[in-house]
Amino acid sequence: MSVRRDGTSTAYERYLRTDELLSLQRDTEGRVDPDEMIFIVVQQSSELWLKLIAYEMESAVSATRSDAVLSAVRHLRRVHSYLVNLMGQLDALDHIPPWSYQRIRTQLEDGSGFSSPGWSNTRRLARSLGEEFTAFMARRAVGLHEVYTRHTEFEDLYQLAESLVDVDSDCMLWRTRHLKVVERMVGVDAVGVAGTPIHVLAKLSTERLYPELWRIRSQLTSEASEYFATAPTPAP
Ligand code: HEM
Repeated sequence: MSVRRDGTSTAYERYLRTDELLSLQRDTEGRVDPDEMIFIVVQQSSELWLKLIAYEMESAVSATRSDAVLSAVRHLRRVHSYLVNLMGQLDALDHIPPWSYQRIRTQLEDGSGFSSPGWSNTRRLARSLGEEFTAFMARRAVGLHEVYTRHTEFEDLYQLAESLVDVDSDCMLWRTRHLKVVERMVGVDAVGVAGTPIHVLAKLSTERLYPELWRIRSQLTSEASEYFATAPTPAP
């Protein structure tokens, strides 16, 4: 631990372990490129945010399992805001010149984003959340069609479903933004460190976690033209 001239460290440094934290980036001598610092800081801080996202997601899964809808929605609201934040971090990577990135990527050896512990935990928990949501709907003996056509009557279920849609959209948006970083850095036709052609990342960015929550919208749209043509309704 770095110490002040009088031999002490501050409570702030001790509690947050800033010494350890700030020594986790390569120092000037170890860097292969001056902009490697941007890459490492964004990558490491993304893992920290993903840790927090997975932590909140875990709480949302167990809240849904115990029918605590409001609590699940609260945790998912946090997940949403952290995912937006995670996406914003990617902006800094646009400052790395492509040739510098080529130098930096040699340090990754055969490592790739597919090994990101934070992203795989988040995806795993998002899938569990979907399963818990389906089980919860079954316990309440209600279908998505009822929830989405009578949303004021099923306010809690509707809010929970929409929180899942937020998370699903956020994950697609993160992947899309990440794809733009990748294209800008290595090109559209390139192949990643793990041998992934970039167009595969484009395909992944359209993958939906909760397809039924998107299908219900299409279903409502196709029903609506007939329904509203024959039954003009007052606003709820
Ligand atoms: C200069 C910046 C970056 C470049 C050029 C880049 C490049 C790539 C490439 C080419 C892949 C496909 C796998 C491969 O074959 O290598 C990939 C996947 C991935 N990267 Fe990045 N990446 C960057 C930054 C980040 C950051 C900051 C994160 C945050 C954790 C991240 C997380 C991931 C994840 C999770 C995947 C798996 C793909 C998915 O499931 O959609 N990457 N990246």
